Amino acid sequence: MRSVALCLLLLVGASQSYLLQDYTLSDDEIQLMAFREQPQNAAISACQDIQFNYCQTTFNTFFGMDESISWRNGTYIFNTVQKYLMMNVTELVKVCNTRTQFYQCLGSSYYTCMNLYTLLNKPQPDFSNTFDYVRTFRGLEGMCVGGFSEVVYQWDCLGTFPTTMAYQNCINNFNQTVAANNFCPAVQQTGVCLNDAYNAACGAPAAGYFGCELFRITFDNSCWGLRCMVDGA
Ligand SMILES: *[C@@H]1O[C@H](CO)[C@@H](O)[C@H](O)[C@H]1NC(C)=O
Ligand SMILES: *[C@@H]1O[C@H](CO)[C@@H](O)[C@H](O)[C@H]1NC(C)=O
Ligand SMILES: *[C@@H]1O[C@H](CO)[C@@H](O)[C@H](O)[C@H]1NC(C)=O
Repeated sequence: MRSVALCLLLLVGASQSYLLQDYTLSDDEIQLMAFREQPQNAAISACQDIQFNYCQTTFNTFFGMDESISWRNGTYIFNTVQKYLMMNVTELVKVCNTRTQFYQCLGSSYYTCMNLYTLLNKPQPDFSNTFDYVRTFRGLEGMCVGGFSEVVYQWDCLGTFPTTMAYQNCINNFNQTVAANNFCPAVQQTGVCLNDAYNAACGAPAAGYFGCELFRITFDNSCWGLRCMVDGA
């Protein structure tokens, strides 16, 4: 039954491609992450609603999203950004520029706003939308900052790879092993799995490092000190 479901998933997935890695976490896991991301430093800038909304609206304009779309619509934002990233490299570069403007717009409050603990403490949050929101921006950071030259060079292969069985095996394994008492080890293990799988598909060592980093960066604040290794270094 499980393998039938997996095949259907792959058939559906095969018709599209995506750069931002797709996977789900349970509400419990998201809550655990949020707790681990709690800002420790009282001097960190607050996330002010007025500025946050203003910067978000400007970001939305590029994608043709309504100005009312916010972190509460994280899944919609994830899918919309994904669609633009997959159009072509020109559009990807524009998305990255839009992300830079958003980052500069929020200034010193950027990381406070892009934080699960901060957002889940707002009234009536939806966990999966909030997680999708945060990981969209973390993924963009990984892709547009550290991984930029790699993604521009290998856009086609890196975007097609997450439709393969090799990718899905890493993610299924993550889904089955991640738990409160095993959270960061599961993230680390998945990073290694993705490193090997991206390398095999798109060429070592840069593709593997890209795939591992893109995954790891989402957990940067909840699993301190995890690193992706460059093969052969
Ligand atoms: C694993 O994936 C399923 C289906 O997408 C999801 O419902 C579940 O919450 C995931 N488990 C964990 C621990 O994230
Ligand atoms: C965005 O989220 C709000 C609050 O959950 C919801 O009312 C609205 O319908 C969502 N908009 C879209 C386009 O999904
Ligand atoms: C990239 O995709 C956009 C949207 O489909 C299109 O308008 C544009 O002409 C494409 N650019 C290139 C260089 O292919």
